[in-house]
Amino acid sequence: MFRRSQKQPLLGLDISSTAVKLVELSRTRDAYRVEAMAIEPLPERAIQDKAIMDPEAVGTAIRKAVKDSGTRSKCAAIAVPGSVAVSKVVTLPAGLSEMELETQIRMEADQHIPFPLEEINLDFQVLGPTPGNPGTIDVLLAATRSENLESRVAAAELGGLQVEIVDIEPFALENAYLELLAPRLTDITPEMAVALFDIGSTVTSLSVFHQGKMIYTREHPFGGRQHTDEIMRRYQMTHAEASRAKRQGGLPESYVEEVLEPFLELTTQQLNRFLQFFYAAHPNVHVMRILLGGGVAAMQELNERVAHSTGVETTTANPFIGMSRAPRVASRVINEDATAMLIACGLALRGFD
Ligand SMILES: Nc1ncnc2c1ncn2[C@@H]1O[C@H](COP(=O)(O)OP(=O)(O)OP(=O)(O)O)[C@@H](O)[C@H]1O
Ligand SMILES: [Mg+2]
Repeated sequence: MFRRSQKQPLLGLDISSTAVKLVELSRTRDAYRVEAMAIEPLPERAIQDKAIMDPEAVGTAIRKAVKDSGTRSKCAAIAVPGSVAVSKVVTLPAGLSEMELETQIRMEADQHIPFPLEEINLDFQVLGPTPGNPGTIDVLLAATRSENLESRVAAAELGGLQVEIVDIEPFALENAYLELLAPRLTDITPEMAVALFDIGSTVTSLSVFHQGKMIYTREHPFGGRQHTDEIMRRYQMTHAEASRAKRQGGLPESYVEEVLEPFLELTTQQLNRFLQFFYAAHPNVHVMRILLGGGVAAMQELNERVAHSTGVETTTANPFIGMSRAPRVASRVINEDATAMLIACGLALRGFD
């Protein structure tokens, strides 16, 4: 929806429910390097249902993340949530002039996009000739209500950044998978399907990849927020205290049995359920590997449980595996928060398009 102008490195900026996540990557030959990274937690109600409720707080967090990361770039790629975006592949005649293409696209959008055109931001990408039909081309249309985009762009600007690229979260995740995760799965052939979960705070997405493409993506309302809420309730903690305690420990002894165990159990059950929804839609595709991403996947105990309950080998989705890092990037940050950085990495990769 925006075009890149300058040649500053592109920052991947994920404005998520719990935090602002920022990453800058560089590329040398066939390896990536983490040049800068920061995660700045957001106040509890700054973002609700993926909508920015407190632009000032989000802007302040972005400014702090930029400063803490040490990056010198001011250019960012951001994403709008899949839940507020519409995308569709349409087929158009090949050989149209640019103006004809734009006119056709607006007509298609008018048909396929459920909002009035004057209220949306519309973007398109020519994917190439339609497979099996050289007379037509496939074009990907993407649209969102302008307010979804404008509130994010405004927050980035408040944080001192200029937005150069706007993506859609599931596409950013796909990008991270294809470019960073898939190449590491050396025993997975294109015929084998891989399921990637992004288990966030309020939303868990399941994307399935097969033959080098994303064939399914769906968001479900479930995440680590439920775990945090339970800690708050049981131990009379504030949201910030509970979030910290979950990661750093220091909770009463009853925690493991009464809070952690049930949450791990519930998460395993939920992931299994989400996978069943996928199988119902694609009964002939078999998932041969499960990858767990999102902040909740920092709990590595989940791998074994999910593997046990699904019968599918399960590993952590770490986008930084095999990457080197600039000296200013602490290895602790990279290791602890890797799984939460998938979307930010997918966005940063857009700088190499
Ligand atoms: N080490 C950890 N142990 C347990 N839970 C963790 C750990 N690190 C992060 N989490 C939990 O992961 C969740 C945040 O994950 P993530 O950063 O992927 O969410 P988000 O992207 O902000 O949310 P959403 O995708 O729903 O907008 C929080 O509930 C947080 O408490
Ligand atoms: Mg997220």
